[in-house]
Amino acid sequence: MQSVSELLTAQCREALVAAFGPSFQETDPLLMPTNQPKFGDYQANVALSLAKPLKQAPRAIAAQIVDHLAVDHLSEAPTIAGPGFINFKLTPEFLAQQLQQLQQHPRLGIDSVSDPQKIIVDFSSPNIAKEMHVGHLRSTIIGDSIARVLEFLGHEVLRLNHVGDWGTQFGMLITYLREACPEALIQADAVDLGDLVTFYKRAKERFDRDEAFREAAREEVVKLQAGERDTLRAWTILCDQSRREFDKIYQRLDIKLQERGESFYNPLLPNLVELLRQQQLLVEDQGAQCVFLEGFQNKAGNSQPLIVQKSDGGYNYATTDLAALQYRIQDDGADRIIYVTDAGQANHFAQVFQVARRAKLIPDTVEVVHVPFGLVQGEDGKKLKTRSGETIRLRDLLDEAVERARADFLERLRTDDRQESEAFINQVAQVMGLGAVKYADLSQNRTSNYIFSYDKMLALQGNTAPYMIYAYVRVQGISRKGNIDLSNLRSQLSIVLTDETELILAKHLLQLQDTLKTVAQDLMPNRLCQYLFELSQKFNQFYDRCPVLSAEDSVKASRLLLCDLTARTIKLGLSLLGISVVERL
Ligand code: ARG
Repeated sequence: MQSVSELLTAQCREALVAAFGPSFQETDPLLMPTNQPKFGDYQANVALSLAKPLKQAPRAIAAQIVDHLAVDHLSEAPTIAGPGFINFKLTPEFLAQQLQQLQQHPRLGIDSVSDPQKIIVDFSSPNIAKEMHVGHLRSTIIGDSIARVLEFLGHEVLRLNHVGDWGTQFGMLITYLREACPEALIQADAVDLGDLVTFYKRAKERFDRDEAFREAAREEVVKLQAGERDTLRAWTILCDQSRREFDKIYQRLDIKLQERGESFYNPLLPNLVELLRQQQLLVEDQGAQCVFLEGFQNKAGNSQPLIVQKSDGGYNYATTDLAALQYRIQDDGADRIIYVTDAGQANHFAQVFQVARRAKLIPDTVEVVHVPFGLVQGEDGKKLKTRSGETIRLRDLLDEAVERARADFLERLRTDDRQESEAFINQVAQVMGLGAVKYADLSQNRTSNYIFSYDKMLALQGNTAPYMIYAYVRVQGISRKGNIDLSNLRSQLSIVLTDETELILAKHLLQLQDTLKTVAQDLMPNRLCQYLFELSQKFNQFYDRCPVLSAEDSVKASRLLLCDLTARTIKLGLSLLGISVVERL
């Protein structure tokens, strides 16, 4: 279905062509929703931008556009305000008719895009044998939501987990594995290596202390590079163990990801370096192969190098990302590649993208974009830690959110003097707790740091998951109480909008599509959260003013449809954030 802004944009373009000629066919009418009712519902600012090229006063231009506008079927007569803004006020009949279409549409008015892209979302991407920390959690939550929105819009999305599963640290880990758990190498499944983070720490201790150990570790690196059987086996054991831990988190959070770690690109690295050489980008500097970067200077004001091959012949993080970029474009056929990591990696990606461009690896038709996010902080504004000062394990963090959600719900049951089954209480606790963690993250502008607070994220008031889930249940409950099975009647019932709060709600319901398109473009899921939050507020204003169940039959049916549409919109919106709902509470 065309959205209201698309319909208006099309009308404005026709008027521009009729008034000023065919060359204005593609002119952007600069249409946007207004937030002040006195300016109507939408405003077009194109007249101001045309003043120069047309050499006319903006108000005069606006008048000519208005003269040629044919919008009777959707808006009242457009008016001109201020220096030349064109204002549209949608008619109640048009809004009702749009909602009618919306509620019969299986995807709430949103058609799949006609030109689907192949989009890679590179997210989560923890490192083997290291802890998956809150930064990875942010990447996981944000990346998943971006992927969900793009998938829903009809794009072909490849969700890639670029795990750190290769590098010199494996020499140390494998040496330690041989030393500490030799039985693991004989029968892998018989051994549980326990907490790999502790394992890593112990291995590091040995490495730092003992020269013979370091030597053994260096040999293991060489053997790993050479693909020696025993060493590869040890490497696989370590990766499998980590993977099992990561998968538990993904399963809990309902995250789908395809693992394609750094090791995947390892065989491609020599050719990648060779290609850079052929493009004459390589310079040898103290034995290392480098590309000198444009626009990145060191303190002395000299151009900074990006090392792609170390003097010992080894490769690094950037080399792998260059090879990955090439593979994703040439083999996966990606049109757009999205990297979700903390803002601390902004330079890394800017440098990798620059070198890739200079090596002509990125065609003009392909968009590569780093989606940065801020730090997760404790309530004291410092790095998130446990009370005893240790880093928080993700498992524990999720457990605690669920536990607290359960306590909140039990408290509510006690006050209402209600009994519920253990299974139901568990379900509510999961949905609320995990939803709260996700929503708290997604509702922030991702570029800012975000303060992790269980109390805030689980609050029933404010822009939180519990608030949205309660809103959903309440709205859904009204339709249920209405005792009308809307699914069979959708095409027969008609919507009539009279009260101002109904009109406001209707307009907002009709903006879901524009909101999702914006999210797909600027990759800011907080806009969807904001949309949902405003939706529930507008719904509340409507529900305060307009009786639903006690209204006379035709009005009742129309209002029940508004309730139903609101509930469906919240449910769909939350699902695109990776958050599920319950049907009652
Ligand atoms: N493993 C990296 C980290 O933990 C993130 C990888 C992000 N993706 C990429 N293609 N570089 O910081």
